[in-house]
Amino acid sequence: MPSILEISGLTKTYPGGLTALKNVDLTIEKGEIFALLGPNGAGKTTLIGAVCGLVRPTSGTILAFGEDMGSHWRRLRARIGLVPQELATDMFEPVLRSVSQSRGLFGLPPAPARIEEILRALSLWDKRDAQVRTLSGGMKRRVLIAKALAHEPELLFLDEPTAGVDVELRRDMWRQIALLRERGTTVILTTHYIEEAEEMADRVGIINKGEILMVDHKQAMMERLGRTEALITLARPLGAVPEVLAAFPVSLTGQGDVLCYRGGGGEGGAAGTTEVAELTKALTRAGIDYTAIDIHESSLEDIFVTLLEADAA
Ligand SMILES: Nc1ncnc2c1ncn2[C@@H]1O[C@H](COP(=O)(O)OP(=O)(O)O)[C@@H](O)[C@H]1O
Ligand SMILES: [Mg+2]
Repeated sequence: MPSILEISGLTKTYPGGLTALKNVDLTIEKGEIFALLGPNGAGKTTLIGAVCGLVRPTSGTILAFGEDMGSHWRRLRARIGLVPQELATDMFEPVLRSVSQSRGLFGLPPAPARIEEILRALSLWDKRDAQVRTLSGGMKRRVLIAKALAHEPELLFLDEPTAGVDVELRRDMWRQIALLRERGTTVILTTHYIEEAEEMADRVGIINKGEILMVDHKQAMMERLGRTEALITLARPLGAVPEVLAAFPVSLTGQGDVLCYRGGGGEGGAAGTTEVAELTKALTRAGIDYTAIDIHESSLEDIFVTLLEADAA
């Protein structure tokens, strides 16, 4: 079975000369939730726009459902849903009509029962007769989601779905996305919230300055690049790292009374905590007393920050 989306060599240079995407390769498999994580200006919206036909690529190819988007745009676009970053919809339409019309745009027959189901799931049913402009910001965003779901897309893009929404709505959206996945919808979301990528995604792609720096399963990314840091407070300061600890990645800090371990990650994988346990045994064997251990595993956030710092250097 072909991948649901296959982007190769995608480059976009805007008329002003700014290159927002540089030779991007990205493959998305059916049924996954993929988070495109990057700071503002990284090129996330441009990437989505290129797939959804809002941005004309400078070069590169985009295959959706195994077919070339460039040649079969209309037919393929009907199988894709987009929740845009900006609130762009007819503010004077009542909610129900606005959402129902989105279906017609893709040439699908009306399906009142399906629309009702979508509106109910998004807590919009009670507001179905209200003009969109009268709704709160969070409710407007729900309308955008309902509109994107109205034609039952197989592939759904959510461009920063929770930027600027309150915590409750964010949790609600995460639940909605999880439900969509259960129905078999493939979801690509962009975010600059690491928490969101960590919570939702199966795989994460980190993008910065138009380049994809890394794509991996979230867990593998954390295991491969994560680090363990342990600060061991010693009962008595040491002048130097004792010979018996030479095999461990440790150094002395403070007044020689804190032993700092930094390890794990790299080829060894998530062995950091195991090694810290070995380290404490070695300390005990050497008769070195300690009074506290503070152990910290790096998160996706640390990885993200480290990657961006390396990219800036
Ligand atoms: N229509 C446009 N014309 C010129 N430059 C643009 C246009 N849209 C976006 N850009 C620039 O392209 C870069 C990527 O923008 P964007 O794709 O919106 O990033 P993100 O969604 O990750 O914040 C930014 O530097 C932005 O200023
Ligand atoms: Mg954007």
